[in-house]
Amino acid sequence: MNETIYRPGLEGIVAGQTSISSIADGLRYRGYPIEQLAQHSSFEEVAYLVLHGELPTQGQLDQFRNQIGQAMELPEEITATLRSIPPGVPMMDVMRTGASLLGHWDEQAQDISTEATLAKAVRLVARLPLVMCYRHRLRQGQQVVPPRKDQSLAYNILWMLRDQEPQPDHVRALDVTLILYVEHEFNASTFTARVVASTLSDLHSAVTAAIGALKGPLHGGANERVLDYLLKLRSPEEAAQWVGQALQRKERIMGFGHRVYRTGDPRAAILAPYCEQLAAQTGNQPMEAVAARIEQEVRQQKNIPPNVDYPAGRLYYYLGLAVDLYTPLFVISRTVGWSAHVLEQQAANRLIRPRARYVGAQPRDYVPLEQRRE
Ligand code: CMC
Repeated sequence: MNETIYRPGLEGIVAGQTSISSIADGLRYRGYPIEQLAQHSSFEEVAYLVLHGELPTQGQLDQFRNQIGQAMELPEEITATLRSIPPGVPMMDVMRTGASLLGHWDEQAQDISTEATLAKAVRLVARLPLVMCYRHRLRQGQQVVPPRKDQSLAYNILWMLRDQEPQPDHVRALDVTLILYVEHEFNASTFTARVVASTLSDLHSAVTAAIGALKGPLHGGANERVLDYLLKLRSPEEAAQWVGQALQRKERIMGFGHRVYRTGDPRAAILAPYCEQLAAQTGNQPMEAVAARIEQEVRQQKNIPPNVDYPAGRLYYYLGLAVDLYTPLFVISRTVGWSAHVLEQQAANRLIRPRARYVGAQPRDYVPLEQRRE
């Protein structure tokens, strides 16, 4: 075994091949720059691209939207379970349970063929928003709002949460965040999904495990943690002071830094103007001013740029969404990327089973219980 290639966190280690996305020359999905996709396409179009490898024709897109629309429904038993989960359970735990439960009512759950995995991916993408929105309504003692099957996923998320016609620019802003969250190479949750798939397990198991990985604040959980400090800091001056103190205490500022983008996350730059526009529209300029000052200070003092979660967290707040829905929104979008990786893993599978460098006790003999000292 070559012990010289060990790196904590597998930093810089190439752990597999992929044709789904690349980050060497900006972020690209299937070769297309994320900037162009965010500007011109929709979440559904990008989901089709990532799952199938090519942009859809109009006919293919219509059919794909229709498939998602038709799949937007939950068995009554799942809605009843969402009602019965104790009130304080974190929404990400509910999403994890929801992904697993959806498998119990999916007739193809155990089928790992390409056709079945693709069909299940579409159903998961269509139904996870219902898990999130229904649970959110139920925990507030409200009736669930059924989806409008002829509308987009982003429209339906806002519609089902609020029972109100959403503004088109709000739908578009949400849609752009979903496009940007779709896929990101071998991040922790995607790698988790691939490890599960490599054992020849099924898509619902891979997605359930991946949700567990995404939940952590060093990964997807960061988009919620950003609000912990943004809601606390009331002026740019207070913000500047807080950054200095936090960095002195060696704390990590959530929403900043990235393992692979050392000079800046291209997704953050795309979302910044949406944040500014929505903040102005919704009377949240004070938070935007605080956010700008924090960014300036973290860059100046530590030379660390923001990642996608910094603007995404703010954008969701300006849309008036409950903070614990932010990482679940990431789940909904990234389910596309996870599914594409599961398909890619299945297509050329090799069990993922790396080695560990042993640093424990030297070889020794068993000591009988009566001879061990207290
Ligand atoms: N705040 C303050 N210092 C930081 C941060 C941060 N957010 N990120 C990195 N650093 C410092 C780190 O302490 C170290 O400093 P020093 O050299 O003085 O010890 C230096 O930068 C290098 O950090 P690293 O440990 O090599 O970075 P990493 O590759 O392990 O970290 C990261 C990547 C994302 C875990 C980290 O940047 C972080 O904890 N960020 C905050 C959590 C976050 O926003 N996560 C979202 C990631 S992007 C999208 C997603 O997955 O959701």
